[in-house]
This record gives sequence, structure tokens and C-alpha cells, in this order.
Amino acid sequence: MAQVSLINVSKVFPGNIKAVDNVSFGVENKEFVVLVGPSGCGKSTTLRMIAGLEDASEGQIFIADKLVNNIPAKDRDIAMVFQNYALYPHMSVFENMAFGLKLRHYPKNEIVRRVNEAAEILGIKKLLTRRPKELSGGERQRVAVGRAIVRKPLVFLFDEPLSNLDAKLRVQMRTEIHKLHLRLQTTMIYVTHDQIEAMTMGDRIVVMKDGTIHQIADPITIYDKPANKFVGGFIGSPPMNFMWGRVIKRDGHIYFDEGKFHVKLVEEMYSKITSYLNKEVIFGIRSEDIYDKLFVSEAPPENIVKVTCEVVEPMGSEVYLHLNTGKHTFIARVGAHDRPQVNRDMDLVFDMSKVHFFDKEMETTII
Ligand SMILES: Nc1ncnc2c1ncn2[C@@H]1O[C@H](COP(=O)(O)OP(=O)(O)OP(=O)(O)O)[C@@H](O)[C@H]1O
Ligand SMILES: [Mg+2]
Repeated sequence: MAQVSLINVSKVFPGNIKAVDNVSFGVENKEFVVLVGPSGCGKSTTLRMIAGLEDASEGQIFIADKLVNNIPAKDRDIAMVFQNYALYPHMSVFENMAFGLKLRHYPKNEIVRRVNEAAEILGIKKLLTRRPKELSGGERQRVAVGRAIVRKPLVFLFDEPLSNLDAKLRVQMRTEIHKLHLRLQTTMIYVTHDQIEAMTMGDRIVVMKDGTIHQIADPITIYDKPANKFVGGFIGSPPMNFMWGRVIKRDGHIYFDEGKFHVKLVEEMYSKITSYLNKEVIFGIRSEDIYDKLFVSEAPPENIVKVTCEVVEPMGSEVYLHLNTGKHTFIARVGAHDRPQVNRDMDLVFDMSKVHFFDKEMETTII
């Protein structure tokens, strides 16, 4: 069995608030798993149940093959880093990091050894005598992580540990936590609502919404083969573009007809879409799979889409075009030097081998 396993776990808060609804997943030894999803989807509650800070209403939680439902938090061999990592203000960095070990009656020389080792790993050796108020946000975050490291737990749990940091520091700390995982080789479960953190850090990602799991997979699979429209739209920036239209057949070929344009599907997709012929579907295309026809040498005429360019946003390394078909607005990411004129028509080419289709009612993936 995996290092951490949840089997049919639910959490119902008083007032019949179902925060987590029948969730099952496993985290392998040494794996870095990210729980990601919008605010209120049940990420923290799931993590807190693993930590033992919250009882599971239903289901079983195992840590290292041991059923832990009735084991108190302090005996679960896990360490948790929170978003609000409240350090003790009257204690030095050293004392803050040593506190948990002292409570557990570790010998003094072992405490000194572990705190120094953690401080070395985190690059905060020089700060050990300072008080939290004499530290920057990033340094405080490191101390909070250090407090968890010294415990040498079986599993680390992180709940949005970077959300109090400014954007630049977040990116830096993200890399540091990633490196820390490689170095410590410990199982980690990391909660975030930031899909970029999920994509860049996770060996595997658990995508949650409304207390349920929508997909569990490695980042590339989640990105390329989302299980449904929600996952497709949540992971990726800018989000996947969606358009509503019909699947039609003409002269033996299958097309997606948006109303203002139609594009021909690649033949490999035909078998999966035939049951949707003449029905409405949701068409999905990522912004990087849309090209300005001016920069495409051999554009297949059946896949050219006429749109109006409404806004041009230079991002430095690329340009975001905000486009309008007359029925739908969407975004394309094009090369840094592509500056089409605003409020003029332009021709696009869709890479039809990369497009997605979702069931209109269920929003599940067809292709
Ligand atoms: N102690 C509680 N009592 C009642 N409802 C709660 C309690 N804690 C959380 N909830 C509810 O459970 C749901 C899930 O909350 P949770 O904190 O797990 O979400 P989250 O995914 O961590 O969100 P965020 O990204 O905002 O931190 C929410 O609807 C929340 O209002
Ligand atoms: Mg939370």
C-alpha cells in the first residue's frame, strides 16, 4: 500500500456542510503530490484529516499501512507547514525550530544537531539568534519549513505555504521546496489553489472541486488529457478556450461548426465523435494551439478561422491576442513580434490535432 492512502474519505461539518465527498487516493513513498482546486473545494480539510487535526466523518486514512483514523495528530509521524505559519514571536529562530523536539524530550545535543542541519539546508544559519520580527517574509517561511524538517517525519504536509509571499519570492521558494524534496526524499503532500505551483512541483496532481476529485495524474497528462472541461479550464494559463457549437458531417468529413466558422476534425478523432453527429458539443483549444495565418507556411484552407482582433497584449516573450468570432471571445498566444492591428479582421489557423471536445451536459471529455 502507498505511504499515505485515503479510502472513501468524507468530511461533513455541522450544518450538513459536505466539505470532502468520498475522496480516495494514494501517495507513494517519496512522492510529491499536489492537491489543487479553487477556494473552498476541500483541499485544507483533506490535508487536516491526514494530519489528524480534523476527524474523518467517513472512510479510512492509512499512513505507512497503519489505519490512523483514531490516532491523535501528535502520534502520526507527520509534520505540517501552514499558510499562517505563526512563529513564536518571543523565541529566537533556533528556539522556534527546536520547540517541537523539546516537547518530545529529544536530548539537547540531538536538538542542536538537527536544528543546525535544517538551518544549513535552508540557508538560514546566520539567522538562528534573531527573533521572527527581525526576519523578512521569505526568511520566516524558511523557519516554518525548518520547524517541520527537524522533526524528520515520514510525511510532510504543506497547506498553501507560499501564499503570503510576494510573486517573485513565491517563485523562488517554489524552487526551494522542490529542491528540498529532492534532497530529503520524503513523501510530501502540498496544497495550493495555484495551478502553476501544481504543474511545476507535483509528481502527480489531484484536481479537486466541490469536495470531489476530478482527476489524478502527472502534470503533462492533466494538461494534455484533462478528464473534463473543469480540469481543462483550471489547469493552464491563459485557461483553455471553450466554444459551443455542433458536430456536422459534410462530403464524408466531420467538422465542428461554431456558427461563424467551421473547422475539419483530424480523422483519428472521427470514431470518438460520431455519436455526437448533429449534436451540440463544447470545443476546447489551448491558446498556444492557435496560429496567426500570416506565420503559417501551408495553412489547410478548411481550418482557417476569421476573427476580429480586439486587444493585443505584449507579454515580452510572447503576445496574447484577444479575439472575437462574432459568437465567442478567446485568447491566442503568438510570437513576440506578431502585432496584428486592433479592430481588424485576421485569419487564424487551429492545430486540429490538439483540440478537445466535451459533452455539453456532463462536461466530460469526448476527445
Ligand atoms: N470548521 C468548519 N466548519 C464548517 N465548514 C467548514 C469548516 N472548515 C471548512 N468548511 C467548509 O468546507 C469547505 C472546504 O473548506 P476547505 O478549507 O477545505 O477549502 P480549501 O479548498 O482549502 O479552500 P481555500 O483554497 O480557500 O483554502 C468550504 O465550503 C468551507 O466553508
Ligand atoms: Mg485551504
